[in-house]
Amino acid sequence: MAATPPTAGTTPTTRSIPTTVTITGAGGQIGYALLFRIAAGDMLGPDVPVRLRLLEVPQGLRSAEGAALELQDCAFSLLADVEITDDPAVAFDGCNLALLVGARPRGPGMERADLLAANAGIFGPQGAALGAHAADDVRVVVVGNPANTNALIAAASAPDIDPSRFTALIRLDENRAKGQLAQALGAPVGDIRNVTIWGNHSATQFADVAHATVGGRAVTDALAERLDVDVAAWLDDTFLPRVAKRGAEIIEVRGSSSVASAANATIDHVRDWVHGTGEGWTSAGLISRGEYDVPEGLVSSFPVRSDGTGWQIVEGLEIDDRARRLIDASVAELAAERDAVRELGVL
Ligand code: NAD
Ligand code: LMR
Repeated sequence: MAATPPTAGTTPTTRSIPTTVTITGAGGQIGYALLFRIAAGDMLGPDVPVRLRLLEVPQGLRSAEGAALELQDCAFSLLADVEITDDPAVAFDGCNLALLVGARPRGPGMERADLLAANAGIFGPQGAALGAHAADDVRVVVVGNPANTNALIAAASAPDIDPSRFTALIRLDENRAKGQLAQALGAPVGDIRNVTIWGNHSATQFADVAHATVGGRAVTDALAERLDVDVAAWLDDTFLPRVAKRGAEIIEVRGSSSVASAANATIDHVRDWVHGTGEGWTSAGLISRGEYDVPEGLVSSFPVRSDGTGWQIVEGLEIDDRARRLIDASVAELAAERDAVRELGVL
């Protein structure tokens, strides 16, 4: 592993040594939506200089180069340096934060699991390069789909990195769930807390509002007061599928998969990981150590808090029969993805 500079890292302190942020697939759509916000300080804060390393495949380099020209033209005071490469060893050298975005997106009619074979070959070598070259304090967020299983592959390929440093992006699903609840309740989205996404970033995910609050009140009570329908039926028949299939809805309406909202969720995920979650919890894909009976080793979404140093799974939440059934269904899909990857010989 590359040596960590004395004051480098991702803790939210003012420092003169920039944090090295590597973005894979930086020449793609999400990359373009991420770069300018990171350089503006939206992710790590207004006092933290960043050094950007953009990793692309050879055919994506020109697009990344174009983005780098525009970054220069923005004259961001926090942007110390931009390096573009198609070599993972260079891209991950001394990397403090790795945003693994580069992968093939799904098109209309595809499920995210259809991308397994196409994308499995990317995350093994990138995990190995992280293990060989990243800084000791590296934190990794996998965005490229299927995000949970890609994170599992990357972590398994970097045995010298603490597996808790590998995460999968689920925040987009949580943000979508909060957006739907805010609309149904006629409430400000910022008043909604403790929505949990369990399982896979896929159509089987479970958006759980059993512990969620709006302005301090139980969301389920507020929904019962506001909606003229049975709340349990609304949650099962309207809310859950709307959130779980939102990615497909975006693909159908836009003609390509979500970009700005995915980049925004990535920034939310890293900001909370690095600066802490404050009140309430959020959701992230983490390697299970058996919490909530999710089999050890799978990368599943859980309710999590961060104190700035790392994610901790919120334990002890009551799981009723409906929740158990829905969590188990999504976790079964994660186990099937892991088995499929094993069959491909990637794990
Ligand atoms: P895109 O096709 O616009 O960009 C992907 C980029 O990755 C391309 O520029 C491509 O050249 C590059 N790339 C491919 N293989 C690479 C490799 N081995 N190393 C480095 N770069 C590589 O796609 P996009 O819209 O930016 O989406 C990227 C990924 O993010 C897709 O897998 C998409 O499904 C996923 N996504 C995830 C979420 C989430 O919430 N987890 C949300 C939206 C999209
Ligand atoms: C999303 O949720 O928008 C992304 O995972 C893209 C997709 O394929 O749905």
